[in-house]
Amino acid sequence: MRKKFYITTAIDYPSAPPHIGHVYEKVCADVIARWHRKIGDDVFFSTGTDEHGQKIQRYALKSNEKPQEFVERMSQKFIDLWEKLNISYDKFVRTTQSQHIEIVQDLFKKIYEKGDIYKGLYEGLYCVDCENFYPEKDLEDGFCPIHNKKVEKIQEESYFFKMSKYQERILEYIRDNKDFIQPQTRRDEIINRIKEGIRDLSISRSSFNWGIPLSIDKRHIIFVWFDALINYVSVLEYPKEKFRKYWPADIHLIGKDILWFHGVVWLAILLAVDIELPRKIFVHGFINIKGEKISKSKGILVDPVELLTRYDADALRYFLLREISFGEDGDFSEDALIKRINSDLANDLGNLVYRTLTMVEKYFNGYVPYGDILDKKWKQKLDGFSGDINLCMSNLDFNLALEKIWELINMANKYIEDTKPWNLLKENKAEELKEFICVLIEVIRKVADEISPFMPNTAKSILEQIGKDAIKKGKPLFPRIE
Ligand code: ME8
Ligand code: MG
Repeated sequence: MRKKFYITTAIDYPSAPPHIGHVYEKVCADVIARWHRKIGDDVFFSTGTDEHGQKIQRYALKSNEKPQEFVERMSQKFIDLWEKLNISYDKFVRTTQSQHIEIVQDLFKKIYEKGDIYKGLYEGLYCVDCENFYPEKDLEDGFCPIHNKKVEKIQEESYFFKMSKYQERILEYIRDNKDFIQPQTRRDEIINRIKEGIRDLSISRSSFNWGIPLSIDKRHIIFVWFDALINYVSVLEYPKEKFRKYWPADIHLIGKDILWFHGVVWLAILLAVDIELPRKIFVHGFINIKGEKISKSKGILVDPVELLTRYDADALRYFLLREISFGEDGDFSEDALIKRINSDLANDLGNLVYRTLTMVEKYFNGYVPYGDILDKKWKQKLDGFSGDINLCMSNLDFNLALEKIWELINMANKYIEDTKPWNLLKENKAEELKEFICVLIEVIRKVADEISPFMPNTAKSILEQIGKDAIKKGKPLFPRIE
């Protein structure tokens, strides 16, 4: 039977159009999903938008729209962008959909009936942009450390979830499963925070109304994070067939600012309703822009939609995975993107394909020659190649995988320079010339195959150009950018 593989991304707040950080996360998840499909797994890949809460309500008000109209319009921007970027999700979940709402209410009720929810008074500090409560000590001069905005004092009646009750079981799970939270530094960080104590969580709000109403108390709506986390099972139509087939999640891919919600709150919810815990939370780093934090108010932003009018989607995908080590912060700048396009894509990859096809035209009338590869060095390299790449991919070591693919590309480019095929022709060495081209074609086929999770369009175009026996040379894959 095929192995199932369920991967999720965070669901984005559609309070503003998608930014380059959102793009980064979805592209990483897409590469993982495509690779798993490539090795034959039965993949389910979900993403979506997180559409309730005070933040969304305020942004809707600012743009003079009803919250529902606002999220319809804004979530479409995410859907459109993912299409441009070839994000191959199986389902896009929106938390305003009735299927999701019913499952959230159902799970809330289960936890309530179990006695894990009680009514109290919430008093504390809140960052609306994070939709998160902050203890005084985590603030920077009274400002939220993520958004640099002043937090708000809240005092309201609220229902609480007895999260503290699950502290030991959560700690145990994280400790016993060494690879559950990756990278290790994130795991250590969360273990230390849990040891400081898990406090009960306020899971309802009553001072505004954009959210899912509590069935037990209509004056309250469910706290947006309790609502949002449940997307990971509602998208599988919990508890029906899809859920039974794909749950538990094999990877929840998230950014570093929301680890507490996933590593602690989500586990507590699952433990409370007796659902199996996920297998891995992978925490990716943050993208900065020329060394600075993304900030709408300071205008430190890159508009991915605009960017894609000038750059190829595959080039952007390649850049993000090559330039940034997975798990660490990284930097985006157009200069660095152009450098990668010109050197790695136009020069190395593009030239290899173009030169090889030109030689097939010139020496073989456009027909791809067949033959065994006898050269030991090449045979060994090509036979072991996919295994090497698969090892990197299963370790989520994407930039190492790409590095190795580019090593092969450049080994082939050097082979062309060293062999001097025009001399082989002059000297009537037909067999040598044939093997030379066979090696190059085989390299290009391998490269196309291995880059397909990263650059699906490019891989397809290379394979089309090589064709089955007659080549169909197209334009250079990546024109140089001046
Ligand atoms: O947190 N670089 O939504 P969000 C890389 N709705 N990733 C970044 C980033 C950056 N500069 N900025 C944000 C939410 N992200 C919630 C999630 S999940 C049940 C609910 C990442 O739109 C961020 O870490 O603020 C998160 O993983 C995702 O983008 C969505 O962030
Ligand atoms: Mg955020």
